[in-house]
Amino acid sequence: MNENLKGTTVLITGITDAGSLAMSIARQVREEGGHIVCSGLGRTPHHADLSERAAAFLDSTYEAFESTVKSELGADTPTFPLDVTLDGSIEDFCGALQAKNIALDGFLHSIAMDKTIKAGVVIKSILDVTKEQFFGAMDVSAYSLVSLTRGLIHSEILRKNGAILALSYLGAEKVAYHPYKNIGVAKAALERIVVELAYELGVSHQIKVNAIRFSPYTGSKAGGAIQGLAEAVAFCEEHSPLGNARPEDLAYESAYLLRPYGRVTGEVRNVDGGYHIRG
Ligand SMILES: NC(=O)c1ccc[n+]([C@@H]2O[C@H](COP(=O)([O-])OP(=O)(O)OC[C@H]3O[C@@H](n4cnc5c(N)ncnc54)[C@H](O)[C@@H]3O)[C@@H](O)[C@H]2O)c1
Repeated sequence: MNENLKGTTVLITGITDAGSLAMSIARQVREEGGHIVCSGLGRTPHHADLSERAAAFLDSTYEAFESTVKSELGADTPTFPLDVTLDGSIEDFCGALQAKNIALDGFLHSIAMDKTIKAGVVIKSILDVTKEQFFGAMDVSAYSLVSLTRGLIHSEILRKNGAILALSYLGAEKVAYHPYKNIGVAKAALERIVVELAYELGVSHQIKVNAIRFSPYTGSKAGGAIQGLAEAVAFCEEHSPLGNARPEDLAYESAYLLRPYGRVTGEVRNVDGGYHIRG
């Protein structure tokens, strides 16, 4: 095992449970010598006028996140609540890192949400997506890369020469085998943001910003909810030259792109067993 990340500290966002792609990446970062800090969606003082149902959802999501991190990554792994749609939550999160003297060498953006996707429900056609659903998906799944990066840079938590990695999908560019629609538009924006940030932060801080498009995967909460994804997994398994990439393949490439040296930036890399080369 290499020690590419020895002595570094990496923020892992987007762990819901042991099936989250972020969990596989966290394990690999640790394997390669990195220290882990985790943020999870949960209730914050900035959530105003929450319904009982919404409050219960946020509380149970955070509980599941914390217990998964502590059991899978160790009881001493620092955990923090973070809702990326709330500027105040990002500010508090950065303040909490500073209070614990935590500086970062990199972070994983593994966050997505689209209210037009619900388990067992047919995904809305793009023509029927409301303005609220459109901007909701954009806010959580794309703009959050800008706002979280800004928070970490302005508070000088993210060190020079660091690395940022975001998770994307082929549906950012193409009409996928299964309906991806509204979230596909948000992923396209996310990838464009990666390129813009790669330029700006490369010049100003020598920070690298990349994205990985991963194979379809039903083992996570978000993946499990996407209509037709199980069929897509089977189709891509058959049609990819190497078969679908597994979470451990993603984890290995992610750790590589999160290493603090090297000059790879602004890339959108396919970790999908070669499915993207098919016509
Ligand atoms: N599952 C797949 O098929 C697949 C394929 C390629 C890329 N991806 C991408 O990988 C990433 C992780 O997805 P996953 O499949 O591991 O599912 P997941 O459900 O485990 O992860 C999604 C995460 O987003 C978080 N999140 C949602 N709204 C948030 C908010 N407002 N603030 C903070 N966090 C919020 C959730 O709490 C969750 O932890 C996503 O960007 C997803 O689009 C998934």
